[in-house]
Amino acid sequence: MSKKTYITHHGMTDLLPGEIEQWQALEAAIHETARLYHFQEIRTPVLEQTELIARGVGQLTDIVSKEMFTFNRGEDHYVLRPEGTAPVARAFIQHHLAQRGGTQRLYYIGPFFRAERPQKGRQRQFHQFGAELIGATGAIADVEIISFMAEIYRQIGIVNTTLKLNSVGDPESREAYRKALHGYFKPLTDQLSEISRNRLETNPMRILDSKEEQDQPLISGAPVITDFLSESSRTHFESVRQLLDIMGIPYEVDPFLVRGLDYYTETAFELTSPDLGSQDALGGGGRYDLLIEEVGGPPTPAVGFACGIERLMIACEALGIRLADPSGPDIYFVTRGEEAARWALEKMPELRNNGLVCTMDYSGRSLKAQMKDANRQQARFAVIIGEQELQTNLFTFRDMVNSKEFQISSSEIAKRALSL
Ligand code: HAM
Repeated sequence: MSKKTYITHHGMTDLLPGEIEQWQALEAAIHETARLYHFQEIRTPVLEQTELIARGVGQLTDIVSKEMFTFNRGEDHYVLRPEGTAPVARAFIQHHLAQRGGTQRLYYIGPFFRAERPQKGRQRQFHQFGAELIGATGAIADVEIISFMAEIYRQIGIVNTTLKLNSVGDPESREAYRKALHGYFKPLTDQLSEISRNRLETNPMRILDSKEEQDQPLISGAPVITDFLSESSRTHFESVRQLLDIMGIPYEVDPFLVRGLDYYTETAFELTSPDLGSQDALGGGGRYDLLIEEVGGPPTPAVGFACGIERLMIACEALGIRLADPSGPDIYFVTRGEEAARWALEKMPELRNNGLVCTMDYSGRSLKAQMKDANRQQARFAVIIGEQELQTNLFTFRDMVNSKEFQISSSEIAKRALSL
């Protein structure tokens, strides 16, 4: 009878040794960059209240209308968090972080969940790193956030990216623009794709985000938001652009950049890569000056970004960027007999305290099998121990790279391993 086996859900993957080293190196780079920008880490639960996400991200967005993993237990409505900004806003309010004074500069790394149709660069469980700068209105904050995001890619060596920039304005600007777009697309209804036709009455700005072939010529003739910005939105956008120029951060203004989440105000941006295929956004973000109030907090301006780690990895692969490789142990103890194995077990903590990575055979295999294992694990040195070695306190210390052997005493093992 064949045994039943199990595999991951569609669009969810395991991260295995061999690949995980690359992730760990990236995470170390993110933590280090965050430290230099003086952002502090925040970790929020993977489950949030469904209503928080529905209100925060917006009922009419794709995420809320069709991509949330939800379940109920008794009175409670749970959602697997599809993004990090609404949860951080919730935490900011719940823990009265405003009372700590100044701006809050928070960053996060973790898994997020969207029930999308999986394809390359689009998963149902994916990972983001992101940052939120809460409590500052100035364009300087927008640019600091963009600079933080760009710096991580620069450090990794992903430099062939494009920063797309737009302003979605304040609510008045957006209302004027919404009307203009509606007026433009209405007579073209018959030519629009079905998905865009549905968006016409609910949220015509989302038509601009359409990937449907037949919508493209219609979109290219549409009015642009830049012509509808209020005085203050226009000034803010100009300041952001000037500061990006001063910082030497290149960008392209894309007047049709609308983000798929409803909370944005003013600045919106996306970082794209030609190495990703159709899902070409490495990351994105913008200002969300009304979100915190929308989910029950005091009026608080904020700006942030989030980037997909899987997509960053795809770009790394395309560019041949390897951040870290699996490494073997410094010392592999090859033991003959129980006493020798016990001796090695007792010796290893001392060596590990000296920073040496140690391992051994755990199942009393033959010497030949152990040497083979040491080779397979790419051990730098093997120390061979048997009854005689224990009696004489002289051990064979084998350099696995150039196959040289030395006879050394127990107390010399650490020194010898560290010096070669
Ligand atoms: P977002 O554009 O929805 O923004 O997601 C940011 C990034 O997460 C995307 O550019 C993409 O790289 C990655 N991503 C999103 N969905 C998937 C998926 N299904 N599979 C793989 N990667 C994915 C946000 O999430 C906002 N919270 C960003 C933000 C922070 N705005 C202000 N603060």
